Amino acid sequence: MNNSQYSKGNQEKGLTPITSPWMHDIMNHPKVVDELFKRFGSPLNILHPASFAKNCTRFKEVFQNHDIKFGIFYARKANKAKAFVKQAFIENIGVDTASERELLQSLQLGGDGDHLVLTSAIKTKEQVKTALQNNVPIVLDNDDECVLVNDLAEKNNCKARVAFRLSGFYVNKKKLYSRFGFDIDDIEEYLMKHVGKDKKYNNFKVEGLHFHLDGYSTRQRSEALLHCISLIQKLRENDFSFRFIDMGGGILINYLKHKEEWLNFDVRLKESLKGKISPITFNNNGLGYRFEDGIIKGDRKTYPYFNEINSDKFLEEILKYSDQNGSSVASLLQKENIEIRIEPGRSLVNQSGITMARVVHRKKDAKGQWLIGLEMNMSQMMSSSADFMLDPFVMYANLDQDKTEEKLVDVYFTGAYCLERDVLLKRKVTLPKLPEIGDVVVFVNTAGYMMHFFETQAHLFELAPNLVYTETSKPLKFADFKLDTDN
Ligand SMILES: Cc1ncc(COP(=O)(O)O)c(C=O)c1O
Repeated sequence: MNNSQYSKGNQEKGLTPITSPWMHDIMNHPKVVDELFKRFGSPLNILHPASFAKNCTRFKEVFQNHDIKFGIFYARKANKAKAFVKQAFIENIGVDTASERELLQSLQLGGDGDHLVLTSAIKTKEQVKTALQNNVPIVLDNDDECVLVNDLAEKNNCKARVAFRLSGFYVNKKKLYSRFGFDIDDIEEYLMKHVGKDKKYNNFKVEGLHFHLDGYSTRQRSEALLHCISLIQKLRENDFSFRFIDMGGGILINYLKHKEEWLNFDVRLKESLKGKISPITFNNNGLGYRFEDGIIKGDRKTYPYFNEINSDKFLEEILKYSDQNGSSVASLLQKENIEIRIEPGRSLVNQSGITMARVVHRKKDAKGQWLIGLEMNMSQMMSSSADFMLDPFVMYANLDQDKTEEKLVDVYFTGAYCLERDVLLKRKVTLPKLPEIGDVVVFVNTAGYMMHFFETQAHLFELAPNLVYTETSKPLKFADFKLDTDN
């Protein structure tokens, strides 16, 4: 018999998340978890930099196996914690910063011009000055930015290290749209005309090309890299000395253990919308699908939570792609002595965080559904897609494993905002037993964008504390957790 007092929701027909031993270690120590809640309140974000370090090593190995020059810049927008920035510097990788505060804090934490890049969508004077003073490369997006950066470099009597962000690549003869970057069709003429000695922009030290593609296609990334390589070849003949291509982020990760569960969920969601089975989402939310005129229309608007080609394999797929002559992207980069850079966010913090909240109340709504009120709100765990589709865990103070079959209960978790839509997961979760007040719900793998990207302080709620977990000697103890702000 399993004696543990915690259980995954949806033991059947679930979406079972991939988890790491450290997460189970925490769930196996309810007393420590209780102390953490007593000291820091609910909800709690727990961060695990050691997992970040592992992800880092996996990416490094891919590049090393191809024997190509590389740079990894952690896109810290995925999680605001300092802990991952510090870990990035420990791993001797860089950090991609996208705002003035991200840049300033990363500098304070030890970043320098060779370990930072500024990619903000909006670049203010102050930001650019800080980047220039610290010799941090700036990724330029448009002509106005070129004017600003060139002028400030002149005033500061320095050369600005720059890369040009590109978009509008052609894949299968179709142009990929992005609101970011210079159009690939115009960049060559633009650079030749305006950038360099005796030209309009003569305070640049041009170092690289950059792109970040929406979506998760490896083929599009490979094609964009091939475009950039041939552009660099041409520009080198005209005195430009590009030395890197930065392909941004968007490296897919795999959240789920079982492909069948992922495929079955989709089938059941459609059946529930058609009314063939009882709803499996709150208010029969279609997560993007609609049932109209007797058919299912639209697309499911969720992250692709199951992916066979993920993380290092995703990167490998991009590098091994060949051009028309049969040369792989990796071999061309090597031949041209071009450094490849990536800016992974989500994929570097994969398996590096969990979010825990205490149960405050249980109630049955007018439809007879159990709603479990948690001491947290929707902004503290919010996906940019239609739902976060990983089964949560519940840590019970009392779970009589022998009797759980009789007590199976379907629930939805609700949050503290005064909005009908503050339902933390849209999916219905079947639990072995109704949680009691004070029991703990654990959402795993939340470090990437879930914890911080959309957090707000409506109702004057405090932001969730971020605790950095560092394993020391067993057993796990309260002192293994430190506030991110404290260290
Ligand atoms: C320029 C740039 N780099 C890197 C990233 C990180 O992407 P991801 O977290 O998907 O790896 C983003 C995400 O929006 C981005 O815009």
